[in-house]
Amino acid sequence: MSDADKAVPVSLVRHGRIGLLCIDHPPVNALSVATVAGLDAKVAAFEADSSLDGLLIWCAGRTFVAGGDIAQFDAPDFTAAPYNRILARIEASERLVVAVLHGTALGGGLELALACHYRVAVPGTRVGLPEIKLGLLPGSLGSQRLPRACGADLALDLMLSGRMLDAEAALAAGIVDALVPGEPLAAGLHFLEGLLEGLAPPRRLSTLSAPVAGLPPDFFARALQRATQERARYPAAAAIVQAVEAAATLPFAEGEAVEAALLAACVASPESRALRHLFFAERQAARVPGLPSGITPRALHTAGVVGAGTMGRRIAMSLADAGLPVTLVEASGAALAEGLASVRAQYEASAAAGWLQPDQVARRMGLIAGTLDYGALAGCELVIEAVVEDMALKQQVCARLGQTCKPGAIIATNTSTLDVEVLAEACGRPHDFAGLHFRNPANGGRLIEVVRGSATAPDVLMTAMHLARRLGKVAVVTGVCFGFIGNRMAEAYLRESEFLLMEGVSPARLDAVMQAYGMAMGPCRMLDLAGIDTGARIVLEYGKAGGLPPDPAYRAVVRTLFMLGRLGCKSGAGYYRYPDGEPVADPETERICAALGRAHGIARRTDMTDAEIIERLIFPLINEAAKLLEEGVACRPADIDMVWTAGYGFPDYLGGPVWQADSIGLPRVKAGLERYARLRGNPYDYWDISPLLAALAQSGQRLSDWSAPPPAAEAPADAAAPGGQAQGHAPISHAPISFPPDSRSVQSRIQSGPKPPQSVH
Ligand code: COA
Repeated sequence: MSDADKAVPVSLVRHGRIGLLCIDHPPVNALSVATVAGLDAKVAAFEADSSLDGLLIWCAGRTFVAGGDIAQFDAPDFTAAPYNRILARIEASERLVVAVLHGTALGGGLELALACHYRVAVPGTRVGLPEIKLGLLPGSLGSQRLPRACGADLALDLMLSGRMLDAEAALAAGIVDALVPGEPLAAGLHFLEGLLEGLAPPRRLSTLSAPVAGLPPDFFARALQRATQERARYPAAAAIVQAVEAAATLPFAEGEAVEAALLAACVASPESRALRHLFFAERQAARVPGLPSGITPRALHTAGVVGAGTMGRRIAMSLADAGLPVTLVEASGAALAEGLASVRAQYEASAAAGWLQPDQVARRMGLIAGTLDYGALAGCELVIEAVVEDMALKQQVCARLGQTCKPGAIIATNTSTLDVEVLAEACGRPHDFAGLHFRNPANGGRLIEVVRGSATAPDVLMTAMHLARRLGKVAVVTGVCFGFIGNRMAEAYLRESEFLLMEGVSPARLDAVMQAYGMAMGPCRMLDLAGIDTGARIVLEYGKAGGLPPDPAYRAVVRTLFMLGRLGCKSGAGYYRYPDGEPVADPETERICAALGRAHGIARRTDMTDAEIIERLIFPLINEAAKLLEEGVACRPADIDMVWTAGYGFPDYLGGPVWQADSIGLPRVKAGLERYARLRGNPYDYWDISPLLAALAQSGQRLSDWSAPPPAAEAPADAAAPGGQAQGHAPISHAPISFPPDSRSVQSRIQSGPKPPQSVH
């Protein structure tokens, strides 16, 4: 075989009377242009070779085709028509065509299989049409053939949820015709030979009607109503209902036209573009810039957690859920007992809800060993400290862990804001040290920010990334600064939230507007759930480190609520009251905010529009994102979008703050920041525009496309070695800050004191 032949991802070879068509396009056999062209050519070759009695379609590598190449939906001339014509020819063949599935037959892969006359799967295969997760509907007749294979009801459910069916369920549903043990090629061949011997006829799904027996007459009308009401921001949901209705009520060719029109609209929709962006952002986040090749993760069989409070106990659960034995250390017997009781209660609640089997509860509880003895951590390969957000306490704990843990063990902090460099130094083994910032709830949330200190060893980073994947989470690497990516941006967002409250916007209105914008939760409700004490302590700790602006109104609301003992849900009152556990608007909060506004000379507004509320929160968020990129804290724009969509409730159909910035248009964002600086005054630099954002707005470039300049030529060759700034890691610019000087590292941009006010609040 020549090199040119090897580059073609589809081959056809003869095995007796059978043609073996193999797709070999690693890693997941996605349908690239070359793959579709290769398929076209090899199907034509089969059509032309009348000596072949049948065709077996199979895939090399870890999976059958896992879908259309998602990147190709962005092509301006994208159309599914060429692929669909090949599928039509496969189905029309007078000679038998069988697909043998393994791995994950998804999207265009399952659609290929549905065009074949028979489909078989090896055990362990999973099938699905997950296009909805990308804001799309199946566009290669999956919406038309799947209902004909398994009925409109199940087909609609599978397409609306995007969930996969295992091989057994697919067999029971009629999506595959048999399960065949063994290697896919041999098993498929054996099955096709049996069909040929038995003179089985071709079966074409397009000639069948979709079973709808038992469905109520208004089945589709109600499904469409639900899709448009409950998933209004995901237009693909309604499109899927319409396509499946067409499959159930129209001849195949007409259904095909309906599907094509709906697909074109979905592909072009901003929601789908955003979701496709996040698909690649998530995978890109797993690649850590600057890691030397050949790094392997450290062994990780046992873990420890220090602190059995809200975060610590949930981190322990997350580790146990992934099968890791965990030693959970507390300072007092009472706190340990409370932590373990809470873990058990949560597992039992999951079992009562049917999410866990009783034996799973026992197994997971058995993996968590509580103790008051730090010595029990000596055998652990990873220990995560999760004590309260107090620098002095965390330094003590890290120092103790540095002495206790065995050589090579990784020591991590779950701090959500504090300086990881200081803690790394306290531990005495900075190369073994990293931040692992789990979002609350640590066992349910999707995000872990992996904080890379200046000395963090490459294999520590690699181990952290592997661990996140093992826990089923998305890991994003961040540099060191106050709050890392997520909480640093949240600080700007919450700062403006509080100014709006002091200007007279009620918590209920603020939350309603931001929820209507798409946030999973408004800022007030979010703080009530997280705990006002947690929110206030972050501000107080930053103040202790000298990082706060000299603005007495800064985060005055959260600090006052904390002082008043209004700790949020846990104390029955925070921004809201919680008489029965549910939030109820509290006039007292509005009085507190109004009094604070008066005390700080903040003018009350009666003309606040929803648009201004959104811009006042989202534009600073975007501005802070640009600053994080300039400073090299975030490696890539898409990492910021991952952090905010996976961990901070930013709507995925808006793609994340950076993606949103480009959708709004950087010149408009910049003009908005300038307008609010004039309106609100800018004595504390809150509205200073990131030079990067300003430059890109000027040049008409997108923030999403920005990449850090390559490291300076004089960077040492061993820059990625422990203790050095990793090669390729975005350089820290001379621009703003991370932590204030007296906390350890670089200079604070909010240290220089107030500018003369341009206008008073
Ligand atoms: N198009 C293009 N690239 C794809 C792809 C697709 N449909 N599916 C996966 N990939 C790429 C990923 O980007 C990744 O590339 P990278 O290594 O360069 O980052 C690589 O294949 C492996 O994917 P990953 O998700 O990391 O592997 P996994 O084993 O965890 O999961 C799948 C494999 C197939 C289950 C998962 O990738 C998936 O769900 N893919 C999307 C399937 C889909 O939506 N199909 C319908 C498309 S219309």
